[in-house]
Amino acid sequence: MNNGLWGPDKAAFDDVYNLADPAAYWQKLAPLDYVTPEIAAGFYRSLLGSLAVARGRGSLKLIDLCSGYGALPMMLNHDLQPGTLHRLYTDPKRAALPTDTARVDYDRNMLQRRKAAAQHRIAGVDVADKALGYSRAAGLIERAFIEDLEAAAPSEALAEWASDTDVIVEAGGVGYVGEASISKLISASETGRKPWVLSMPVRTVDTSGVEEMLADYGYVVERSSKTFRHRRFRDSSEQEAALTRLGEFGIDAGGAEIDGFYRCRLLVARPSAEAAAWPIDALLPAA
Ligand SMILES: C[S@@+](CC[C@H](N)C(=O)[O-])C[C@H]1O[C@@H](n2cnc3c(N)ncnc32)[C@H](O)[C@@H]1O
Repeated sequence: MNNGLWGPDKAAFDDVYNLADPAAYWQKLAPLDYVTPEIAAGFYRSLLGSLAVARGRGSLKLIDLCSGYGALPMMLNHDLQPGTLHRLYTDPKRAALPTDTARVDYDRNMLQRRKAAAQHRIAGVDVADKALGYSRAAGLIERAFIEDLEAAAPSEALAEWASDTDVIVEAGGVGYVGEASISKLISASETGRKPWVLSMPVRTVDTSGVEEMLADYGYVVERSSKTFRHRRFRDSSEQEAALTRLGEFGIDAGGAEIDGFYRCRLLVARPSAEAAAWPIDALLPAA
């Protein structure tokens, strides 16, 4: 797996990225308080709402890059309390169910009752076939594209989905993927209909290549001034490596990562005319 943009000493979770049941992933992340999908979804839902109104539509067409078990689609298309992801997948009642299929049914039923008013059409892209399989079976995504866009061109089916996609979203994915994947999705979009890109990159991930690529496509890239918790460091060596890397980027952690958490920032990239028409401060006053 490509960890290149993250820098050295990041904890690896590859063993839990591709299982039939998301429980092991969330159980491994529970002590690390991984919260990015929830935090990202709060901002993304506001932005999607504004874009849907501007386009005169009730819902939008999305690609969730590095979608995994569908955490972001779950938070975008359902009205859920903070902590639901961790609670659901560490729930002993759920764990006691006899089969993976029974657990998928349990999740699907819970989600059916909590559908948000706006149901965005979401396709997941990930290299993890079992994770996407779970997500589709649980009703989190409409289409599953098991593809590595860092290494290859999109399939015809994915290129077709991307041709009229309104927004590319991600949480916890940039770093594993970068400009290669995002640029392939943007270049598959129809002329005059470039998708917004909503991302939550961790501060230790080098996003300069992504930002340059987006500028080349005529996008305006904006970042939140605030930083948000991503997850706890696994241990002091991961934390020290992160602080060193921030120093190399010229970022003063200013007490932030010193509290024991990786921190991320919201990145909103939009075609320049739309960015000028809808100033980000008006869309997201709190960011
Ligand atoms: C930290 S997980 C994030 C998953 C999900 N978005 C979430 O927040 O739970 C990173 C995901 O990136 C996926 N991934 C890693 N390399 C990838 C690549 N080259 N192309 C697509 N997905 C990739 C992994 O399979 C994994 O699902």
